[in-house]
Amino acid sequence: MSPNGQPLYEGKAKILYPGPEDGTLIQYFKDDATAFNAQKKDSIIGKGVLNNYISAHLLPAVGEIGIPHHLLGRMSHREQLIKQVEIIPIEVIVRNVAAGSICKRLGLEEGEKLDETLVEFCLKDDSLGDPVIAAEHIFALNKATPDELSQIVDMTLRINDFMQGLFFGIGVRLIDFKLEFGRLETEEDIEIILADEISPDNCRLWDVSTNEKMDKDRFRRDLGGLIEAYSEIARRLGVNVPANALEA
Ligand code: TMP
Ligand code: ASP
Repeated sequence: MSPNGQPLYEGKAKILYPGPEDGTLIQYFKDDATAFNAQKKDSIIGKGVLNNYISAHLLPAVGEIGIPHHLLGRMSHREQLIKQVEIIPIEVIVRNVAAGSICKRLGLEEGEKLDETLVEFCLKDDSLGDPVIAAEHIFALNKATPDELSQIVDMTLRINDFMQGLFFGIGVRLIDFKLEFGRLETEEDIEIILADEISPDNCRLWDVSTNEKMDKDRFRRDLGGLIEAYSEIARRLGVNVPANALEA
């Protein structure tokens, strides 16, 4: 069931509804799966629930290392209460190991360890296919200031260090992931905080011993077993998702 009220925004995997108080929103997780700028589409029953539970576990965990984020709490199987922010239209991609689009773009072998952690930026614009851009584009197009971007990169690298350790502890390699940030207006100034979600939809996660993919590549590459893989990530993280919650 989705919340009452008119959606404020509908994305590919989530819907935002007005929240109970000013400055809050309800983030509803759909089962829709898309890839390749929505050229490939399906609905996978239970995916939204698993992403909701996993993200509601990971955001507070990064909060504990001092990263401010938008999550106020999980409300139901598919809903979270979040702080309303102005989303910065940049997808921040962190890569520890080459996989996905960078292999095609730069001719790398999937699974090749990168000598240094790579942070890439994509302009969040579906009509353009979210193109990779440089920091200079971000400033020239006035999408974020140098100070904002430096805060974003700083937080992103700390999140990467923390999450690599967290996942390694449960037998999973964090290959790459995508983050989004937003501006939160406070009484004194504007704070940059982590927004969106952290889930197997926007991370690549490989089993340490078998290299089995435990993320959305199972859908992108028609490997099947997506719900089983996301459920296994939840189980290893110690996140208890009630079995009946995975029904439509
Ligand atoms: P990529 O290899 O397709 O560029 O993806 C890099 C990482 O970013 C991968 O973990 C998947 C994630 N990602 C998203 O979360 N949303 C997107 O729209 C894309 C293209 C990638
Ligand atoms: N969600 C993205 C899309 O449909 C792509 C992806 O995650 O691969 O474009």
